[in-house]
Amino acid sequence: MSSDSKPIVLVTRQLPSQAQARLESLSDELTIRQHKSTSPISRQDLLDGIKGADGLICLLSEKIDSELLEAAGPRLKVVSTVSVGYDHVDTAALKAHGTRLGYTPDVLTDATADTTVLLALMASRLAKRSLEIVTSGTGGGFSLSTGLGTQFTKKTLGIVGFGRIGAATTQRLMPFGFSRVLYTASRAHPERAQPFKAEHVSLPTLLAHSDLVCICCPLNQQTEGMFDAKAFAAMKPSAILVNTARGAIVNQDDLLAALDRGELAHAALDVTVPEPLPKGHPLVRHPNCTILPHIGSATEETRNAMGNMAITNMMAGVFAEQMTAEVEL
Ligand code: DGY
Repeated sequence: MSSDSKPIVLVTRQLPSQAQARLESLSDELTIRQHKSTSPISRQDLLDGIKGADGLICLLSEKIDSELLEAAGPRLKVVSTVSVGYDHVDTAALKAHGTRLGYTPDVLTDATADTTVLLALMASRLAKRSLEIVTSGTGGGFSLSTGLGTQFTKKTLGIVGFGRIGAATTQRLMPFGFSRVLYTASRAHPERAQPFKAEHVSLPTLLAHSDLVCICCPLNQQTEGMFDAKAFAAMKPSAILVNTARGAIVNQDDLLAALDRGELAHAALDVTVPEPLPKGHPLVRHPNCTILPHIGSATEETRNAMGNMAITNMMAGVFAEQMTAEVEL
């Protein structure tokens, strides 16, 4: 195929090493334009780079909207996001443009559920305070009565969104001794819930009874700002909130006020708005808030699997074949 007739693909980031090597091996079949950096592409470079492209591999940091689709032009057959979440994509605009959408479910379930457990334990055992004591050199070694956290034995686990990640999180947390599992979801999942005897309940019920609340649902119109002042007021003052889904599900001003009022004990967040939060943000400084920089799926294995799946989806979109995972628009 001459370079003129090869499909053009824009890739907005340097991919993890194995996926990057695979992408580069496709240069006989594709003209690859790539923002070869570990930092996000600028909006202007995205709009310039997408012109005349047949395919796009993007990340959750890129807004895929009608402006971008117009800039791309009629050849754009596929947007392949290296993420399971696709709240950064205007799906209606994509459908109207006749462009397919690929995403990367399943391969990141384990890593994200692991991170949820990590945050739950960090919060329950006050890891932020302990790390600060060690880093600042102000600690006095073993103490019988200070730095005491809580444990999950005989407690109630609340999972908001009982999809793949919610179920994998529950499976990992059960050995810590929870005696009851509650979940919310738009519909009941009896088969998924059965091994844990998990009960499908309303959000107010879940919040009123749960000692650990894990947000594992997608961001959409129903879930945006779902954790607001009213939700925090309904939680147990001893409860821990973990969010490894999307920052916008939590109203951060309301969270800060609720932490100050003691309406919940600790929030542990892998996701925020914006990402990263500005240095010195009150939630970053808050002793009862632990924040990680969106590392839910950040393992070598998972990120390479995500990159590979995104390449496979992109190729399928460009060459009109079946994708591994396609969003029904
Ligand atoms: C996703 O895939 O949506 C995560 O947030 C990043 O792994």
